[in-house]
Amino acid sequence: MTSLRVASLLLTGLGVLVAGALVRGADAPKMLIAHRGASGYAPEHTFASYDLAIQQKADFVEPDLAVSKDGVLVCLHDDTLERTTNVEEVFPDRYSHDVKGRNGEKRWVANDFTVAEIKRLDAGSWVDAKFRGAQVPTWDEMLARVQQHPGVGVYPELKSPPLYTARGVDMAKIFVDSVKQHHLDTPESLKRTPVIIQSFDRATIKRMSTELPTVPRVFLTSDEGDITDAQLKDLATFAQGIAPEKKLIAAHPDLVRRAHALGLTVTAWTFRADEKTAYASVKDEMAKFLYDFGIDALFTNNPDQFPRR
Ligand code: G3P
Ligand code: CA
Repeated sequence: MTSLRVASLLLTGLGVLVAGALVRGADAPKMLIAHRGASGYAPEHTFASYDLAIQQKADFVEPDLAVSKDGVLVCLHDDTLERTTNVEEVFPDRYSHDVKGRNGEKRWVANDFTVAEIKRLDAGSWVDAKFRGAQVPTWDEMLARVQQHPGVGVYPELKSPPLYTARGVDMAKIFVDSVKQHHLDTPESLKRTPVIIQSFDRATIKRMSTELPTVPRVFLTSDEGDITDAQLKDLATFAQGIAPEKKLIAAHPDLVRRAHALGLTVTAWTFRADEKTAYASVKDEMAKFLYDFGIDALFTNNPDQFPRR
C-alpha cells in the first residue's frame, strides 16, 4: 500500500477529529475489509484466513472479539464455541447451564473456558480436513500477524459487550487496556497499522470516543430505527461512520447521501460469493454498492473479488 493510500485511509477515519469535517471526496479510495479474514476460502478467524486476506490485498482484516474466562481477548464470531470448533468432543460436559440454543440445544460459552483450554480446540476441521489443527487466535496474536504487513489495518469488533457486563466482565476496558498497552492509538502506530473499532453496541462505541478518542469507530446496525436523520445526527457526535447491513442500503439508497452530509462514512456488510443474490456475481454486487450507491467500504468473505477502480 502506498503512503498516499495510508494517509487517505487515516484521513477518512480521523477526518472528523483532525479537520472538523470529514475529509472524503467521491474519488476517495474504497476500502476492503476482509470479513473474519478471507473466510470464503479458509476457516473464519484462523491464521490461514487472515494470511490469505492479506495476500488478497485487504486494506483491513476483521477480528470479532470474545473474552476468555481468564480475561484474554480471542478472535471468535459467536459467543459460543460449538459452531466453529470441536469443543463438544474435547469438553463434552462443559456446556452452559444458562445459555441454550433457540430450541434448547447445548451451548459452550467461550467465556466459560480459559485461553489455554480454547487453544486445545481445532478451529479448522469443521471447514475442511486440510485445516485440521488450526487454533483460535488471541487478539494479540492476530494483531502481531497483521503488524508484519505495514499499511494493512485491523478492524476489531467488540461482540456482545452486554453479555460480559452481565457476567461482571468489562470487555471494553480489557480492549482499551490492550490498545493502550500496544500503543495502537498513537499517530505513528495508526499510520503503520490503521485501526477502526466496530460494535453493534452503541453505548460501547460512544464509550470508545472518550477512552480511545484517536481511534476511529463505526456503529454496526441492521435496524431501520438507527438510520433516521435524528439517529445519524446523534451518531455523528461520537463516531466516524455507520456500518449498515447491505439490505438497509438497498432499501434506503438515500442513506449514503444523508450519512455523508453529516460527515459519517458508510460501510456495508456482508458480501459473499456463496450467497444467492440478484447479481450475476459477488463482484458485480460489490461494484453496485461501491460505485452506484456510493458506499465507502465493505466487508467481504471474498477479498479477491473486490472491484477496485
Ligand atoms: O462486523 C461487520 C459484520 O461482520 C457484522 O456481522 O455477524 O458477521 O459480525 P457479523
Ligand atoms: Ca463482525
